[in-house]
Amino acid sequence: MARISLLILFLLTACADPGPSDPEPAQPDAPKEPAAEGGDVHSFARPDEVAMRHLDLDLDVDFESRRLIGRASIDLERTKGADRLWLDTHGLEIRGVTLGDGSEATWRLGDEVEFLGRPLEIELGPDTETVHVDYASAPNAGALQWLEPSQTAGGEHPFLLTQSQAIFARTWVPCQDSPAVRFTYGATVRVPEGVMAVMSAGGNPTERSADGAYRFDMPQAIPAYLLALAVGDLEFRAMGDRTGVYAEPPVVKAAAYEFAETEEMMVAVEALYGPYRWGRYDLLVLPSSFPFGGMENPRLTFLTPTVIAGDRSLVALIAHELAHSWSGNLVTNATWNDFWLNEGFTVYLERRIMEEIHDRGYADMLALLGRQDLDEQLADFGPGHADSHLLLDLDGRDPDDGMTDVAYEKGYFFLRSVEEAVVRERFDAFIRSWFEQGAFESRTTADFVTFFDKELIAGDEDLASRIDADAWIFGPGLPGGGPAVTSDRFERVDEARRAWAAGEVDASALDVEGWTTHEWLRFLRGLDKPVSAERLAELDTRFELTQSGNSEILHAWLLHAVASRYEAAYPAIEDFLTRQGRRKFLRPLYRAMAESGDLLPMAKEIYAKARPGYHSVSTGSVDTILDWQG
Ligand code: BES
Ligand code: ZN
Repeated sequence: MARISLLILFLLTACADPGPSDPEPAQPDAPKEPAAEGGDVHSFARPDEVAMRHLDLDLDVDFESRRLIGRASIDLERTKGADRLWLDTHGLEIRGVTLGDGSEATWRLGDEVEFLGRPLEIELGPDTETVHVDYASAPNAGALQWLEPSQTAGGEHPFLLTQSQAIFARTWVPCQDSPAVRFTYGATVRVPEGVMAVMSAGGNPTERSADGAYRFDMPQAIPAYLLALAVGDLEFRAMGDRTGVYAEPPVVKAAAYEFAETEEMMVAVEALYGPYRWGRYDLLVLPSSFPFGGMENPRLTFLTPTVIAGDRSLVALIAHELAHSWSGNLVTNATWNDFWLNEGFTVYLERRIMEEIHDRGYADMLALLGRQDLDEQLADFGPGHADSHLLLDLDGRDPDDGMTDVAYEKGYFFLRSVEEAVVRERFDAFIRSWFEQGAFESRTTADFVTFFDKELIAGDEDLASRIDADAWIFGPGLPGGGPAVTSDRFERVDEARRAWAAGEVDASALDVEGWTTHEWLRFLRGLDKPVSAERLAELDTRFELTQSGNSEILHAWLLHAVASRYEAAYPAIEDFLTRQGRRKFLRPLYRAMAESGDLLPMAKEIYAKARPGYHSVSTGSVDTILDWQG
């Protein structure tokens, strides 16, 4: 297989390379397209010439002007003859550039490129090892969300959060914003009275400092997309020797209860895949506008509060973000085309962790729910779609386009099918050595293919004939239909649903004894839409679904409410859409209302109220769905 895949890879890289024959360069010397030496079409950096190896940030957090203002000092590694540093910026106001010896540098901002921002080109002296960039971020920086006190749980202090993945680090730090470039970092951050700063680094405080200054140190090298900062009224609660949770005071107790299994998860994954290499593992619960479920910022996972269900039923998300400490943070996708190496591996690890914490049946329920998401995504794409390949081609596009269930769930099912072909012991050893050999490095899909051929197939023709890795990685859809997953627990749910839908039993006779969140999701998602509003009311009366405090169940339920025009739940739709901003919940609900036609005005009315509270990641998506002109 290696030969065919290498050929395909060669063709892909060849197309991505903006060679000297590029028509009409924007300016002499400036690349019209990002430099692709590192193979990363989403970065202007040329790390093969000059690479950043350490970053020291000195920042003031100004809530009034909604800016971070300060200096980024960057230590360099230079190859012989290279005399220029290329950094990524997006919306940054560059106030000056100084070389390590104190002299002013000659620098230039290149033209803006859609999605990517502008390259900052800095001329280096013969002995320059450090450059200092004085700058300010823009008030609308893509990574930053500035919250008013009223948008927080506590209601008294403002809040700032960053979300750097995939290419937003450059909106708050001038840097080589490519996952193929790693650097250590230190930071001094000054914040106003009453709030505390935390980062994806060592040195996170457990108390407020007297002078409002906080110092951080990150000795492990990370790619820029893992740079993270949050500022707010935070309280810390220890959960174990190396785990704890930060949250706003009204939330911290519930958070510590919800996530108490974190240490147990760490032990489970260490036993499978080797030691946790990052020191502490803490969690940060953000205000509800956080657009993602979680973000694997090293040492400090960022989390939506919507995972706090009260019964620990949604903590697979913790397992997921923790797993990134191996898949993603330790061994990092070299480009966003290789995103499946981060997320597919992580979903695989996540389910192995949940199997350890619960049992195989539990993990298989998660796998089946994931399979359902994937099937919907693939149906949406239609057959043969290139975005259903594991290896993506995001050249000229927003890397966000690659953030689909394909990377996550097709990636998972690929690894699971390999596991099934070789049996677990051998597969686990393979994964362990992937992490060991790739630790603190970046990997391309081509690297994976080479490693796979060498370490797993190793000339075994019989094995090679049973795994068509090429089809999974370079082809569309699910080769061979994917591994079969069964679940007794879901079979019972399916039978209950069938009987209820057929009118054989009414809601009061439904046997939901022992159902967890996952069974409820299976039940609700499997009900053909639309169910009549009367029958939804019947379920609601018995199970109080409109009042559910479980965000996943509520979300699945409200989608039925829309489809069935179940008016009793309309206030709950508005409430849900205004009190949290997780894109995964917003997109399907707004889309369902938009597509319904008659509920579009209601969707717009809700959106007008809710939009100011959403992160730009979420408004970016919902604006399109609602054709919002603002
Ligand atoms: N790293 C991702 C979040 C992400 C991906 C942010 C790409 C920006 C660009 C994180 O690990 C993740 O996958 N979060 C999921 C939860 C998970 C359990 C599937 C999410 O936020 O929904
Ligand atoms: Zn992830």
